[in-house]
Amino acid sequence: MPFNTQDTASATGTVFLVGAGPGDPDLLTVKALKLIQQADCLVYDRLVSDEIVALADPAAEKIFVGKKDGYHSLPQNQINQLLIDLASSGKKVVRLKGGDPYIFGRGGEEAEQISAAGIRFQVIPGITAAAGCSAATGIPLTHRDHAQSVKFITGHLKQGDLKHDWHILAQPGQTLVFYMGLNSLGTISAKLIEHGCPPDMPAALVQNGTTVNQRLLTGTLSNIELRCKQAEFASPSLIIIGSVVSLAQTLGSWPDEAETLIQGFSEEFQQVLRAV
Ligand SMILES: C[S@@+](CC[C@H](N)C(=O)[O-])C[C@H]1O[C@@H](n2cnc3c(N)ncnc32)[C@H](O)[C@@H]1O
Repeated sequence: MPFNTQDTASATGTVFLVGAGPGDPDLLTVKALKLIQQADCLVYDRLVSDEIVALADPAAEKIFVGKKDGYHSLPQNQINQLLIDLASSGKKVVRLKGGDPYIFGRGGEEAEQISAAGIRFQVIPGITAAAGCSAATGIPLTHRDHAQSVKFITGHLKQGDLKHDWHILAQPGQTLVFYMGLNSLGTISAKLIEHGCPPDMPAALVQNGTTVNQRLLTGTLSNIELRCKQAEFASPSLIIIGSVVSLAQTLGSWPDEAETLIQGFSEEFQQVLRAV
């Protein structure tokens, strides 16, 4: 049962599906902050930073349901049931999710189950990782001289494969943003080149975007996988592909680890590496 009201403070027995943004607590929306502070119960996952959880009332119940360091996350159906049970007992439940709940956040599935159980719910959008990483690294996702559209794509392999229309993804004039794509970076690069993307198309990885632990690595479709392995990038990382990535050199101020990787070699070999 969706509802829309500005008076979120008086609602009880409700689930708020709240986007926590990409990491930096200052990127929470005002509405998200108010709801976190007023929640009886916070149900949050791995991508929600400790600083954001700490904004809740110390007396509020805090339930971690994400996967971290080998601990398995609660299965999705149990998370859905938990939200329904907590709200049914009259609590104001804030279900905090990294980024935006409706962008690769399984917010749609949770909303369907909560709604089917007759529980009131409201969705509060958050800054998605693509927007956060873009701003934090000086890579505009669209730009009239580079990209007229941007696509948010899952890089998560289903049965070992990515079922995308690679012909469409390889077209010029667009920016591709892959979420959850670190393990399939090699497949993504190879498929795009196979379907006509130039091998020297700029590509970037952003790890822990917008946080103090942010990392940036640029390259091209042909070398980004190798550079990623050399620099040991880890999750959560976002892949941005398109000529907009070249703008990071002028619009960004975050250090690009590609330069560090290259510095260790002779001048001649550095030129080779830059050209690969
Ligand atoms: C399950 S998806 C959740 C996306 C989220 N709902 C959003 O809107 O940003 C997780 C993926 O988001 C990306 N991601 C989330 N936060 C990130 C961050 N701070 N820096 C880089 N990538 C991030 C990574 O690709 C990660 O594998």
